[in-house]
Amino acid sequence: MTDITDAKKAIAQLRQEIERHNHLYYVEARPELSDFDFDRLLEQLLSLERQFPELVTPDSPSQRVGGTITREFPSVLHREPMLSLSNTYSLLEVEEFYNRVRKLLLLEGVAEQKMVAELKFDGVAVSLLFRDGLLVRGATRGDGRQGDDITANLKTIATIPLRLEDRLVGDLQGEEREVEVRGEVFMRKDDFECLNESRPEEDRFANPRNATAGTLKLQDSAEVARRRMCFVAYYLKGLKDESIAHFSRLELLSQFGFYTGDHYRLCHEVQDINAFIEAWAAKRWQLPYETDGVVLKLNDVRFWEKLGATAKSPRWAIAYKYPAQQARTVLNNVLFQVGRLGTITPVAELEPVLLAGSTVSRSTLHNFDEIERLGVMIHDRVIIEKSGEVIPKVVRIIPEERPADAKPVLPPMHCPSCQSLLVRPENEVSYYCPNEEECPAQIKGRVLHFASRNAMDIQTLGDALVEQLVARKLVKDPGDLYFLKEPQLEKLERMGQKSALNILRALANSREKSYEQLLYALGIRHVGRATARELSQACPSIDVLQQASEEQLATVPDIGPVVARSIIDYFAKPSWPQLLEKLRTAGLPLCASEPREQVNSNFEGLSVLFTGGLDRYDRQRASELVLERGGRVVGSVSKKTGMVVAGLDPGSKLQKALKLGVRVVSEDEFEAML
Ligand code: IVH
Repeated sequence: MTDITDAKKAIAQLRQEIERHNHLYYVEARPELSDFDFDRLLEQLLSLERQFPELVTPDSPSQRVGGTITREFPSVLHREPMLSLSNTYSLLEVEEFYNRVRKLLLLEGVAEQKMVAELKFDGVAVSLLFRDGLLVRGATRGDGRQGDDITANLKTIATIPLRLEDRLVGDLQGEEREVEVRGEVFMRKDDFECLNESRPEEDRFANPRNATAGTLKLQDSAEVARRRMCFVAYYLKGLKDESIAHFSRLELLSQFGFYTGDHYRLCHEVQDINAFIEAWAAKRWQLPYETDGVVLKLNDVRFWEKLGATAKSPRWAIAYKYPAQQARTVLNNVLFQVGRLGTITPVAELEPVLLAGSTVSRSTLHNFDEIERLGVMIHDRVIIEKSGEVIPKVVRIIPEERPADAKPVLPPMHCPSCQSLLVRPENEVSYYCPNEEECPAQIKGRVLHFASRNAMDIQTLGDALVEQLVARKLVKDPGDLYFLKEPQLEKLERMGQKSALNILRALANSREKSYEQLLYALGIRHVGRATARELSQACPSIDVLQQASEEQLATVPDIGPVVARSIIDYFAKPSWPQLLEKLRTAGLPLCASEPREQVNSNFEGLSVLFTGGLDRYDRQRASELVLERGGRVVGSVSKKTGMVVAGLDPGSKLQKALKLGVRVVSEDEFEAML
């Protein structure tokens, strides 16, 4: 391509395509392209940009910071290939595996065969290299032979020690005393939910594994740190004494300071293995993280090499995967929900059914493409599935059981809330309600978002209350909240003087929130908490922000062309000047406050663990406070834990801390230290 106008066009198209696939992959978890094809697209873009360097803009996905482009990390070669495991869903095959291993051991004259059963963590595999006790490199699996060097990101994970204790390093082998630890990076369910809550609805991750994969590829390790990922170690190589069994290696890892999972067991016979698998089939739903199976490894490491490996997986281990939990039920109806951005989401109303420990009566159908793909009709018998922590989904219908009264699911013509004629933009899978300003459902969505925990945190403003405020036209935008009067509130259903005063007090308190939180609370499409933080630093007042050009915005870290455009569109809305006026009159934080006084370093070098609920801080805020003061936040107790903050209803970690003699403090003492 020699013509610059053609190149410009092609580049614009490629950028749009790449952004779309990024979104499909990271956010919606339904990639349409293989990694290979995606890389090809990216390669085309890079090649055009090399030919026409004058067309490179800071907002090109090729330049994206905090982005998703793996080639921004240097590649590294693994010491030995990072293999995967062979998977099975059958207990019979587990037994066959056991017998295969036994044959070999018997041939070698070994009668005793112990297996280690571990939980299979659903995350992202990484390899850590320690040289002379120091963490020198952390890498993703990549294609098994070479992966991405993501050391800086991995160093933010509290359960990865940066140095192995000297006393233990003595055991390590080789001149350089190199040791490799492999394991899984994962996100706890509560941290995952917290992260998603802080992201705009349209950018949420589908499950903790996707969130982990997306986070590990960020370029901004400060943001990675905020997302609180965990690491579980399950493989150690490089000991001087190579005969140390796998179970003991796990114990060693734990002495090094790694988290190794709390539940692995040594199994002496195949019955023990079956019992372990069976026990966790149900109990795993109660774990704070996702597991999708059990991994079995031969304990006696001396035979690992003899057993060898196929091209893909070692023969000394196998993964048993739990079948996804399914249930059959009836789809009674399909409702249409209107989001705060006007998106119409079809929701299946199901005959309530028990699935993986909870009753399910609703499930999202995402959009009309999904309804078509499933071929689902109202009154159909359907199979729903829950895999991991994901919200249950309809996976298929049972066509042979379709009742005579089955009715097709018709796309709605009108908004279920305001009756406006819906639109479906070209190339989009969703319908939208175009009545942005007046649609009660959209107003309600915006007000609820404004009041949500990570935004202005006005806890007394619940769904039912906002519904009434909007229906009675007392509130048309979040700004109106601040002009509500006590008598107006008292007249509402289920509201007395006391609750009315509580609400007014909560609203008044919310004026103390930060400018950054306010930016997030506005609900600008694609502006989550992290983006709001960047924006608040780059544009320290709303007046500066609303004047910024698209080009200026695109130079802010983490802000790509799509986000920049969306910010411009937001401030161009006809209703914005009115909202701004109300927010100003109400005294809300419309500019960044003076840099806060230097915080102390009372937590310098201290690893802190929270257990139980705190009264005055949510977990995320409490963790940030510790980080700001030089400390680290950890997820499990060991002798090296510096301090445990015990809140209401502390878990078993408190017991463990007391047993190990770790210092335990109350919320009050914690606050005093802050
Ligand atoms: S052992 C050569 N142990 O599951 C040793 N893997 O489906 C290979 N995984 O690639 C891994 N929990 O990413 C092992 N306790 C565990 C695991 C585990 C999760 C992952 C790992 C592996 C994949 C195989």
